[in-house]
Amino acid sequence: MYAQMVKSTGHAVRALEDMEPQERAFQERINAGEKIEPKDWMPEGYRKTLVRQISQHAHSEIVGQLPEGNWITRAPTLERKAILLAKVQDEAGHGLYLYCAAETLGVSRDELYEQLHSGKAKYSSIFNYPTLNWADIGAVGWLVDGAAIMNQVPLQRTSFGPYSRAMIRICKEESFHQRQGYDIMMKMAFGSEAQKRMAQDALNRFWWPSLMMFGPSDKDSIHSAQSMAWKIKLNTNDELRQKFVDQTVPQAEYLGLTIPDENVKWNEERGHYDYTDPDWNEFFEVIKGNGPCNKERMDARVKAWEDGAWFREGLMAHAEKANTAEAAE
Ligand code: 3HC
Repeated sequence: MYAQMVKSTGHAVRALEDMEPQERAFQERINAGEKIEPKDWMPEGYRKTLVRQISQHAHSEIVGQLPEGNWITRAPTLERKAILLAKVQDEAGHGLYLYCAAETLGVSRDELYEQLHSGKAKYSSIFNYPTLNWADIGAVGWLVDGAAIMNQVPLQRTSFGPYSRAMIRICKEESFHQRQGYDIMMKMAFGSEAQKRMAQDALNRFWWPSLMMFGPSDKDSIHSAQSMAWKIKLNTNDELRQKFVDQTVPQAEYLGLTIPDENVKWNEERGHYDYTDPDWNEFFEVIKGNGPCNKERMDARVKAWEDGAWFREGLMAHAEKANTAEAAE
């Protein structure tokens, strides 16, 4: 089994027979499909990988509110405004479940926020692209939430219990998000000529960054082999990217829109659509902090944190007062 993983991702993992007894017993539990819970013994690398992935995921949910929140006041109707508001609130909730799951691994919420605000922690590359008009909100729901679901449905079966349970609720909400995005795209694509042009333009700009959401190609993915051996990840980055392309091309055809990649065509032999990889140089620049909106996103996030200091202090003072009163009684 491991030999296959090594081949698919290019990074070696240790075989069972090379492991110490405790680690071997842990790996056997994973292989048997058992869930690992916070108080169980786990290798330090497993714990660290989970803290990294879950916290990056949580940060993505939180930062991901910014490009959409930007459109709440400008949504075209009251109904669209209420829907977008609910969606953005859902993303905040997802961030909170995920921070809670990470905290069960012995890291504090404050540490995680510090890592985000200081630029040490990553969040999804996609949120460093701007949302320029209302069609972009449709494209974000259709493509970005669509890519997120493709990645997150298998994570419902991830080996760490608190992460897998958080993902079950998150996936239900994400599928509503994807539908609301597609609904906006249908209105635009079947609307006036100008609306259809806006929908096509949004697809042109969000297609490549959406493909990047799945991470680098398997040969450049440093964590996949070990994460798959631990069943933290259930699929490689390229497998999920291919599934996303296969799902999305017919949806674009239905809308009468064109995927901005002339190599997209059905390959009978492979049973999949062929497509071109995104520009990996651009991807690595964006995750290094040099994307179109990295600075704007971090400034907004840090400002929100600083502006909320008085409120957090008030809550702490109130909790302390309540504790003292309770102790006195
Ligand atoms: N954006 C930013 N960084 C990325 C990335 C992306 N799209 N894809 C990969 N990277 C980073 C990795 O974090 C890693 O850097 P690190 O070592 O500093 O942490 C490096 O690139 C190498 O990539 P690997 O493939 O080796 O990394 P992983 O095995 O962690 O795979 C992943 C990357 C597929 C994104 C995986 O972490 C994952 O499945 N994460 C959970 C899902 C998630 O985080 N989704 C966020 C997307 S959007 C969202 O949630 C909001 C929704 O409402 C739309």
